[in-house]
Amino acid sequence: MYRTHNCGELRKSDIGKQVTLSGWVQKIRDKGFMIWVDMRDRYGISQLIFDEQRTSKDLLNQAKSLGREFVIQIHGEVIERASKNQNIPTGDIEILVKELTILNSSTTPPFTIEDNTDGGEELRMKYRYLDIRREPIKKNLILRHEITQQVRKYLSDNSFIEVETPCLIKSTPEGARDFIVPSRINEGDFYALPQSPQTFKQLLMVAGLDKYFQIVKCFRDEDLRADRQPEFTQIDCEMAFVEQDDVLNTFEGLITDIFKKIKKIDINKFPKITYEQAIEIYGTDKPDIRFGMEFVELNDVCQHKDFNMFNSAELVVGIVVNGGNTFTRKEIDKYIDWIKTPQVGAMGMVYLRCNDDGGFKSSVDKFYDQADLKNIAEKTKANKGDLIMILSGDKNKVRSQLGALRLELAKNLGLRNSEEFAPLWVVDFPLLNWDEEENKFHAMHHPFTSPKPDQIDLLKTSPSSVKANAYDLVINGNEIGGGSIRIHNKSVQEQMFKCLGFTKKESEEQFGFLMNAFKYGSPPHGGIAFGLDRLVAILGGSETIRDFIAFPKNNAGRDVMIDSPSKISKEQLKELKLKQDL
Ligand code: AMO
Repeated sequence: MYRTHNCGELRKSDIGKQVTLSGWVQKIRDKGFMIWVDMRDRYGISQLIFDEQRTSKDLLNQAKSLGREFVIQIHGEVIERASKNQNIPTGDIEILVKELTILNSSTTPPFTIEDNTDGGEELRMKYRYLDIRREPIKKNLILRHEITQQVRKYLSDNSFIEVETPCLIKSTPEGARDFIVPSRINEGDFYALPQSPQTFKQLLMVAGLDKYFQIVKCFRDEDLRADRQPEFTQIDCEMAFVEQDDVLNTFEGLITDIFKKIKKIDINKFPKITYEQAIEIYGTDKPDIRFGMEFVELNDVCQHKDFNMFNSAELVVGIVVNGGNTFTRKEIDKYIDWIKTPQVGAMGMVYLRCNDDGGFKSSVDKFYDQADLKNIAEKTKANKGDLIMILSGDKNKVRSQLGALRLELAKNLGLRNSEEFAPLWVVDFPLLNWDEEENKFHAMHHPFTSPKPDQIDLLKTSPSSVKANAYDLVINGNEIGGGSIRIHNKSVQEQMFKCLGFTKKESEEQFGFLMNAFKYGSPPHGGIAFGLDRLVAILGGSETIRDFIAFPKNNAGRDVMIDSPSKISKEQLKELKLKQDL
């Protein structure tokens, strides 16, 4: 028997017991006549003691031969520790070792396997199996497991059934590029890996399954970021005979349940705002509402003087930084420099200090007198001691720049507390998005999303004004899920494809199977998909999904551990009838 107990479970009440443990050597402290070893397994750390007085010299010598990450088995007695360690649950006891077996030796690992490691990210990824031995990563994977189990339980208890859909499919347009797989037995033909199981879940509704879910891998060949991986996991769901509110209520239930069971946090009803409001108030369709700093439009109080920058702007808009009058000139200049960086792209920023004596000091005093500045301050509802930051320019650009500044300020002021959670629904997205470069419409969500019920006719006359029956779940400024009520009618779907610039032949070729299914009694249906990696990361207090995936890809889309993607042999290429140099 390798073990009677694990390394995390022995307590004071076990003192006197004879135990057998197996695990890894984390740390060795050798005092010559006495050696302490921290022994680790998944469950925790137990301290071992080898002592010249109480154990044999041979055993002490054997202990001296141990190295970091050796796999060992010990047998010994649980004793009380002379100096207790309050930081770990086993800190009251240690094990006086009587027998030691080395189960396997280890080369010295390339980084320390402790909470605060000396290993850089690339190195940790290359040796991910060692990285996972570290508590922070292991803890994240356990959190992921707990959330996944809870999702399955909740959905299953609510009559959803889990159905697997294929991974070798035909391209589904979700906005990214497909990963392509050549078919050997169908020369010249290719499968695509699913960007999501969208069309399959709709077909399951036509099939009458009524409530479906799947925890499923999706693949998208797109530029990577902290919250994007080329393969990621969705909690994918679909329901028949539902309207938007039915879907939102059901999945608000799921998310609330996860917060309650996993984080022991009760979350009240999620606020719901429209896409338009989100853009106007926060400059983004995924607002972080843990803090205020809402936008205030200032055209009417700013465009009456000789300040040309404001007068020529489509929009003048500001935010109030509470207590921001304590910012030094240098600090303000840093923000001005920051918003002028290419990734933000603003031309400049005007600021207005609300002094404690009731007076104002601004960077545009030359153009605005105290009464003008007072007007601006009143419009923004700023108080004494606050700072107002104002941007101006093209409406869309300026909102997104101010949105970025709002987040930067909040980060620096400590307003983005990772243990506070503020979910909300964003609804009523535009259905279509005009692409200037390609000179055509794209579906903002995907081509299967239905227009708002009363706007279906507008598809023919004024497609750009049509709102979608679509919704996103946003938590702490991250898009955690997105979904919609679907088109379930063949002619509306045909109209949609037409708006997207598909010829009849093209839409038939790509989506004939779906349109055909719609001929056989398709029920009204809708659904949503959550990014599991993002959901787990947010609950784990982070926005970096890599740390919550066992074997992630790096920012260049590479798995540096298995060295993939990689070249394939000439024979494989030949067999697949693929040319090497195209
Ligand atoms: P959507 O494209 O919005 O919708 O995706 C749903 C959710 O998946 C997550 N996500 C990602 N997570 C990590 N890496 C990525 N590259 C990535 N891309 C997306 C996000 C997102 O909100 N079929 C529709 C859903 C539906 O309409 O029901 C879909 O896939 O959290």
